[in-house]
Amino acid sequence: MIPTPASDSGVWSAPGRANLIGEHTDYNEGFVLPFAIEYRTRAKASRRDDGIIRVTSTFDPTPVEAALDDLPSLFDHPDHGIPEWAAYPLGVAWAALRATGIDARELPGLDLAFSSDVPIGAGLSSSAAIEGATASALNDLWALGLSPLELAKIGRTAENDAVGAPTGIMDQVASMLGRADAATFLDCRTLATESIDLGFDAAGLRLLVIDTGVKHSHATGGYGERRASCELGAASMGVPALRDLTLDDLPRAQALLDDVTFRRVRHIVTENYRVLDTVRALRESGPHAIGDLLVASHASMRDDFEISTPELDTAVDAALAAGAVGARMTGGGFGGAAIALVADDLVGAVTDAATSAFAERGYAAPHIFTVTPSRGAGRDA
Ligand code: GLA
Repeated sequence: MIPTPASDSGVWSAPGRANLIGEHTDYNEGFVLPFAIEYRTRAKASRRDDGIIRVTSTFDPTPVEAALDDLPSLFDHPDHGIPEWAAYPLGVAWAALRATGIDARELPGLDLAFSSDVPIGAGLSSSAAIEGATASALNDLWALGLSPLELAKIGRTAENDAVGAPTGIMDQVASMLGRADAATFLDCRTLATESIDLGFDAAGLRLLVIDTGVKHSHATGGYGERRASCELGAASMGVPALRDLTLDDLPRAQALLDDVTFRRVRHIVTENYRVLDTVRALRESGPHAIGDLLVASHASMRDDFEISTPELDTAVDAALAAGAVGARMTGGGFGGAAIALVADDLVGAVTDAATSAFAERGYAAPHIFTVTPSRGAGRDA
């Protein structure tokens, strides 16, 4: 029996995220430390009586609809032909049905109208925001009773199997569980989470996003290749996941693996240590103490994991030269944004430095703005 929901309509929303540190460690069952940002995707949702789910959005004039009953057969085919933005919410509905085992014929249909101010393709996880807003709306309107972590898993299933992007679970957890002024420390093996106070405001710091404007997609290309290299590295080293390697294993990895695979492995192993060190530094000394870890993370992504771009390197170098406490690219890489931790009174100088450095190199002007660690997904009205 499906319990009766408290209401028939409402507004739900979920945020994008910035990752403070811990890049590409999630699908290696390691550690990450992302935080939800104030930019959100909203879903105005209402029940309908005909078993149809219909999605509309402010960024595409054409609505997309499907019978709930048809979702399994639709998403059985990788070439389902659903536009990518609509595959996120329809994929979440499909994944929710699969996860709960509820018969689609027992559920009412839904209208979902999306609007969003999360920058798309900037590495701030507009995808987790649309997934989180959808999952939260379905959880209430279908009275599913799922926990935020279970909703995060449904979001990841949608992204992996409906959209076809082989991502990990960091973004969905960050979007579901965010808290103001805090980051979510997530162990991607156990899925244990802990909220870590950031205290940027109290320390007189701001987190700047420098969006290079270079768009990326994780459904194609480099992201999947990196994931495959990591899986090869783990299999060659005889461990279930790279999470299981320590710094002491690196000499053996170097002897055993080809140079490229070894460097991919070294990034993951050292990045896991950097996440743990960042959590410790935040707890013991506060955010001024994490700058070197951010910088080391960027160097590792640039040199070992090779997912940075000249634009991202320029943003990081310019921010540091202008006095940022630390800076690194954030998200999956191959484009998107860098973050810089900057003292309040240097925000203007860092912005100017990055803007000039881009102009000197003939890059399109970056889009630079601050983000504030914010609350996670939920019902707004
Ligand atoms: C993307 C993916 C995440 C994670 C990051 C890299 O954002 O969605 O799962 O792998 O890249 O850290």
